[in-house]
Amino acid sequence: MAPVPKGGTVAVTGAAGFIGGWVVRKLLQRDYRVRACVRDVSDETKTAFLKAMPGYASGRLTLHAANLDDEGCFDDVFAGCHGVCHVSHVSDYNDQEYVRRVCEHIIESINKSGTVNRVIVTSSIAAILTEGDITELVRRPVLYEDRSPDEANPKRTPERGHGYAMGKLLAQRIFSDAAAEHGDWDAITVCPADNVGPIQSPHQKNMGPWQHLIEGMLRGKYPQTQAYRPWMTVDVRDDAECHVRLLESVDIKNAERYIAWSTDTRNVEDICASIDRLLPELEFDVPEVTDDFPEHIKAREAEFRAIWASVELRNDRMRAATGVEFRPLDVSIRDCVESLMSVAGVEPRRRGESAEEN
Ligand SMILES: NC(=O)c1ccc[n+]([C@@H]2O[C@H](COP(=O)([O-])OP(=O)(O)OC[C@H]3O[C@@H](n4cnc5c(N)ncnc54)[C@H](OP(=O)(O)O)[C@@H]3O)[C@@H](O)[C@H]2O)c1
Repeated sequence: MAPVPKGGTVAVTGAAGFIGGWVVRKLLQRDYRVRACVRDVSDETKTAFLKAMPGYASGRLTLHAANLDDEGCFDDVFAGCHGVCHVSHVSDYNDQEYVRRVCEHIIESINKSGTVNRVIVTSSIAAILTEGDITELVRRPVLYEDRSPDEANPKRTPERGHGYAMGKLLAQRIFSDAAAEHGDWDAITVCPADNVGPIQSPHQKNMGPWQHLIEGMLRGKYPQTQAYRPWMTVDVRDDAECHVRLLESVDIKNAERYIAWSTDTRNVEDICASIDRLLPELEFDVPEVTDDFPEHIKAREAEFRAIWASVELRNDRMRAATGVEFRPLDVSIRDCVESLMSVAGVEPRRRGESAEEN
């Protein structure tokens, strides 16, 4: 088991995505050769921004078609790679058997490669904090890298909306166990928080969810999110930087988990005020927050807010291993808004214009 050598070759799954796209760019900036995996190489709406990156013209960046639902799709891609960043979503987190099958065929391709030293598995803070019973956060309020939800809680089922968190934890374990069994590579899990920051391609405005929510806010749609959980954020560029530095670290070990977050939080009702404060030139017409939660959630608003206000966000292990300096959320919000406008052509509602409309 070893870190990836400087200038080595790294495959990135989900390379056309919000996080994957930044992982590709950061890897190129740090002199790596990159194999970017996307489902459809010829889909210019998703791949043009990758093809425009420095490195594509010379061949240091190559694009590869791979659908995770097809077993063996990574055999050729991973052969000769030193590292893999498995950033991609899967097609269905609710089907845990499917999640297992996908992990297993990716692992088979890694084993077959004979060259991969390290795999970064992109998980989520959901695998740390999404509880079947939210009061578990009162009992264990420190959100740190070795924390997992109470897995014995009977409400923790895909049917009750826990498929994503369960699937992410399952994937982490399958990769770590496979790496331990194989012995020649290690699997390191990154748990990103809510990613905010600049999009690189217009199609990414529809993904997220966070940049998509900000797009909606700019257009006047401003719903409450996550049952009153404040946004717990990381800048997407810092998240990508965490992925790359974990590939390079000589101090980390198989099965370890790292949280990518700045530890900044903000309530959803303060996001639009932040946009207005950060970019007064926009004359952004700050919309009213709507609350579309069902009555039983609304009835517990004060309780939920109090619980979230009392949790403590930590990522001591990530900070020690990578030394990443996390950008403040204000910078991520500002750059997200500016990219939504400049890259995707999103037009915010402006005070004067709204008055004219009315
Ligand atoms: N965004 C966040 O705030 C956040 C927070 C925590 C964790 N995460 C995790 O971070 C990872 C990336 O998130 P993201 O926000 O960058 O997502 P994203 O922008 O939606 O991108 C996800 C990518 O996954 C790929 N994908 C989905 N199903 C696939 C399949 N069956 N086969 C191959 N590729 C498939 C898509 O590929 P194509 O474009 O090629 O179709 C897409 O580019 C995910 O694992 C997510 O769970 C994200």
